[in-house]
Amino acid sequence: MSNKKRQILVSSALPYANGVLHLGHMLEYVQTDIWVRFQKLRGNDCLFVCASDAHGTPIMLTAEKEGTTPEELVDRIAETNRRDYADFHIEMDNFHSTHSDENRELVEGIYAALVKNGHIARKKIRQAFDEERNMFLPDRYVRGNCPRCGADDQYGDSCEVCGATYSPSELVNPVSVVSGKPPVEKESEHLFFKLADFSIMLREWIHSGRLHSSIVNKLDEWFEAGLRDWDISRDAPYFGFEIPGEDNKFFYVWLDAPVGYMASFLHYCRARDIDFDSYWRPGGDTELYHFIGKDIIYFHALFWPAVLHGSGYRTPTAVLAHGFLTVNGSKMSKSRGTFITARTYLDHLDAEYLRYYFAGKLGPGIDDLDLNLDDFRKRVNSDVVGKLVNIASRCAGFIQRLADGKLAAELPDPELFARFSNASEEIAGAYENREYARAIREIMALADEANRYIDGNKPWVLAKEEGNEKKIQAICTQGLNHFRQLCIYLKPVLPELISNAEEFLQCGELNWSDLQKPQLGNAINPFKPLARRIETADIEKMLAASRAELAASTEHKEQDNMINIDEFKKMDLRVALITKAEVVDGADKLLRLTLDIGGETRQVFAGIKSAYQPEDLVDRLTIMVANLQPRKMRFGVSEGMVLAASDDQDGPYLLAPDSGARPGMKVS
Ligand code: 2FM
Ligand code: ZN
Repeated sequence: MSNKKRQILVSSALPYANGVLHLGHMLEYVQTDIWVRFQKLRGNDCLFVCASDAHGTPIMLTAEKEGTTPEELVDRIAETNRRDYADFHIEMDNFHSTHSDENRELVEGIYAALVKNGHIARKKIRQAFDEERNMFLPDRYVRGNCPRCGADDQYGDSCEVCGATYSPSELVNPVSVVSGKPPVEKESEHLFFKLADFSIMLREWIHSGRLHSSIVNKLDEWFEAGLRDWDISRDAPYFGFEIPGEDNKFFYVWLDAPVGYMASFLHYCRARDIDFDSYWRPGGDTELYHFIGKDIIYFHALFWPAVLHGSGYRTPTAVLAHGFLTVNGSKMSKSRGTFITARTYLDHLDAEYLRYYFAGKLGPGIDDLDLNLDDFRKRVNSDVVGKLVNIASRCAGFIQRLADGKLAAELPDPELFARFSNASEEIAGAYENREYARAIREIMALADEANRYIDGNKPWVLAKEEGNEKKIQAICTQGLNHFRQLCIYLKPVLPELISNAEEFLQCGELNWSDLQKPQLGNAINPFKPLARRIETADIEKMLAASRAELAASTEHKEQDNMINIDEFKKMDLRVALITKAEVVDGADKLLRLTLDIGGETRQVFAGIKSAYQPEDLVDRLTIMVANLQPRKMRFGVSEGMVLAASDDQDGPYLLAPDSGARPGMKVS
C-alpha cells in the first residue's frame, strides 16, 4: 500500500425527485458506499456527493397533480431519500439538489463557455404540442398505436411490444398524456450541443481505461453510428433553469443533472474551505469517479466528458457502471410484490443483510444482479450469522467466565494471524477494482479457517476439566483476533455490525492498518448477539407489504402493465360464427374471415393460415374482440381480432366457446 493519501471525489447517480427509492436504487448506493468506506478505511481522503435530480417535465407534472409546487415536492422527496440513506448506512458527505444556487451558477458558466467556444448551434425542430395545455410534449408524453405492430397505448419513442423505435409523429392515433387530446406538430428553435466537435477527444478518452471493457464496445458502436448534436433546450412551461439571453427557454434536465455532482461538491466546499478547483480543473492529481447504472452510460461517457472538456473542466477518472437488479430472476414486479421500496425492505429486514448480499454478488461489469430471496436468506444466515458472528459468540463466553473478561497477552498461533493479515492486499485489490464478490469469497474463506481453528482446539472440551483456563483464554484470544481481522475486512460492507463489534472488543475504531497488530491483554465487553437469522416469514411479510402497497397505489398500472377491472371491461369480447374463410392473395400468414356476431357481420384478417385449412373453419364458433379500432391493411380493413392461443413452438389454436353459446353473446 503506497503511503500517499489519495484525494478522491465520488458520486452516485442523482435520484429523480418525484418518487421513492427502491432496491434497484439501493444497489448503486450500496456499491458506491462500500467503495467510499473502503477508501476511507485505507486512509484516503474520499468524499461522496449526491443530490436530488430536481428538474424536468415529470417533476413539474407530478407536483401539479399533487396540487403542490415542484420545489415543495423536491424537498419532500429529498427528506425521504435522506432517511433511506441513513437507514441503509449510505454515508454521503453531501446530498444537495440540482435546483440550487450552486447548480445554477455552474450550469450558466458551463453554457457560457460552450457558447464562447463555438459548441452550441441553433436549429428549428418540429415537436408534438398539446394545444389544450399550451406545452410541448416530451416523447414519453405522447402515446398511441405502434406504427409497426399496431399495439395500442405505446410511448412516443418506442414500442414495448415489438421493440420498434420511432418518433411521436409516426404513432397511429396519438394522444397527449397530459390532456388526452391528439397533439399537433409545432415548430420551435432549440439549442444544440455539438457533440461531434469532441470526436477525437472522446475516442481517446473512451479507450484510456476509464470504462469497463464491456462498455467500451457499446460506445464504439454508438461512435460508428455517428455523434449527433444534442438538444439541450426546452420550451416553457418547464421546471428548470432559464437559459440566459433566451426567451422562455430552459436548460434540458440532462444538461444540468450531472452538473449537480459539481454543485453538491461546491456547496460542500464553500462550507469548509476546500479548494473546489483542485477537484474539477484539469492538471491536478485528484481523482473523480461516477457510479451509474448501465442505462445512463451515453450521458456519462459521451455527453458529460465532452461538456466538461468543452467548458474548461477536467474529465472523470472513470465512469463505473453496474447492471440492473432483478428479483427472483425477473424484473421487479409490483403484482408479485418484488417491486420493493427501500422503506418496505427496512420495515422488515436489516439493511446490512442486503448490503452483504449485494456485495457477495457484485463485480466490476454491467451484468444484471439477481436478488434471489431464498438464496439471500440462506447466504446471510450461513455467512454473517453462521460463520462471522459465530466466531465471536463461541469465544466470548469463555473469556468472560474463565478469564475475567480479559484477552490473553500473547497469541498461541501468530502464523495463523499473519496468514489472515497477509490476505490484506489481495482483498484490498478486490475492493479497489469493485470485485466485491471476490473480496467476500476471500474473506469468507478466512472465516471458515477461523472456525476450523476453534473446532480443532475444542475449548468446550477443555473447559470440562479444571486447570485449562489459560489454554482456553489463549485459544479464544486467537479466535477473537481472527474475528477482529474479519471485522476490518468487512467494515465497508457491514458498518453497523462492525461498529457494535468494536464496542464488544473495546478496540476503538478499527482501520485497515490494524490488520497487522493483534489485540492482546485488554478487557472486552460481554457478548451481545450481533445479528439475528433471517426467517422465511420476514421475507413473506415484506412481499405481502409490497403487494399491499400496490393495491393502495393508483399509479401501479403505468409501471407494471397491470389493468384494472374497468379497463378489462372496456374490451367488447363476443362469440362469433365464422361464416366464410378465404386465403388472401399475397399474404403468407393471413386468412380473411367473415364473422357473424349476432346479426352484424365483420371482416377480420387473422394470422392463422399456418394452422387451419379455410374450409375447416366455416361454421365454427370463436371469440373476437369486437371493439378494436379498425385497421387498414394492404388487403382491406380488419374490423376486429379473433383470439387464438400460441407459444414460441406451437399454435395458433383458435379459441372457441363451449357448446350452446350463440353468435353475438358477450364474453366476460
Ligand atoms: O436516470 C436517473 O435516474 C437520473 N436521475 C440520473 C441522473 S445522474 C446525473 F447525471 F445527474
Ligand atoms: Zn410495436
